[in-house]
Amino acid sequence: MTEELIITKPDDMHLHLREGETLKHVVMHTAKQFARAIVMPNLENPVTTVTMANRYCQEIKKHIGDSLFNPLMTLYFNDSLDSDELKKVRDSDNIIGIKLYPAGVTTNSKDGVSDFKNCLPIFKMMEEFDIPLLIHCEVSDKNVDIFDREKVFIDKYLINFHKYFPSLRIIFEHISTKEAAQFVLESGPTIAATITPQHLLLNRNDLFSGGIRPHHYCLPVLKRSAHQTAIVDAALSGSPKFFLGTDSAPHPKNQKESSCGCAGIYSALSAIELYAEVFYKNNAINLLENFSSKYGASFYNLPINSSKIKLVKKPLHIPESIQIGKDQIIPLFAGKTINWHLSS
Ligand code: DOR
Ligand code: ZN
Repeated sequence: MTEELIITKPDDMHLHLREGETLKHVVMHTAKQFARAIVMPNLENPVTTVTMANRYCQEIKKHIGDSLFNPLMTLYFNDSLDSDELKKVRDSDNIIGIKLYPAGVTTNSKDGVSDFKNCLPIFKMMEEFDIPLLIHCEVSDKNVDIFDREKVFIDKYLINFHKYFPSLRIIFEHISTKEAAQFVLESGPTIAATITPQHLLLNRNDLFSGGIRPHHYCLPVLKRSAHQTAIVDAALSGSPKFFLGTDSAPHPKNQKESSCGCAGIYSALSAIELYAEVFYKNNAINLLENFSSKYGASFYNLPINSSKIKLVKKPLHIPESIQIGKDQIIPLFAGKTINWHLSS
């Protein structure tokens, strides 16, 4: 008999949808699997105000047809956030938090934070208003080795943020090191983390297997296999501090396969199946539902979704490439076959 798994419809707690033609094509990949997704604000012109976030949300909704998918919005952390704007965030139904990018750390982060001293009064207000702070936890200092940038951020900043603002809910996005997993596990209940499929399925050898693999390049960059193991252990730990966030980030094939290829892995096409693959291979498929559909919602004080999805154990072939308008995008695990299939 075919093995099946019926679980509460999951949420993607970290997603890049972009704009224009890309948005139009990619949003349904997410909407077919996920009830909700937290949409990142790092557009070319970043989403810095409540008005911009509402406008972007309307734009997304134009492309979801009659699907019940609900995009949850974020603002891009900036020095102009004052108490009036933060009260609007607190009172908004669809704006869920504020995403902080250290300046220069990743795609469209040039307008990010360059001096954390300026952030502290805003953190204080966010703590008072109970607004979640989502952080790309890496230093952007070019003198720090790229493989150490997450660990240095924890030691230099994150420990202090948590110490000075213990009630501020912080989401450590896309953890990639054993130090990150350990920090999250050992810190108070206001600290949680998202985990991507690529940091579960790949390590830095996959960036250089037989040649340079630009479609495996993301930030934080893949780390050595001991870190990958620590991330898998965190996802399978049953701790409610770790939950699903794909960080699916589409970039056109030609911009990834270039002399300076950009960071980002497109996983939205088969995201829940890729996570199922990890849990299944580790004999822990029964732990998938909490990780994908419950722990994130609880941390964000959202209701658990009432609808369900069915996953069937049968081979799923991931296409080599998908056409997005005039561009091609290479999905994670392109050309590979995995074991679980989302049933329509
Ligand atoms: O690999 C990444 N791509 N990491 C990020 O933090 C941003 C994302 C993007 O927007 O392309
Ligand atoms: Zn991201």
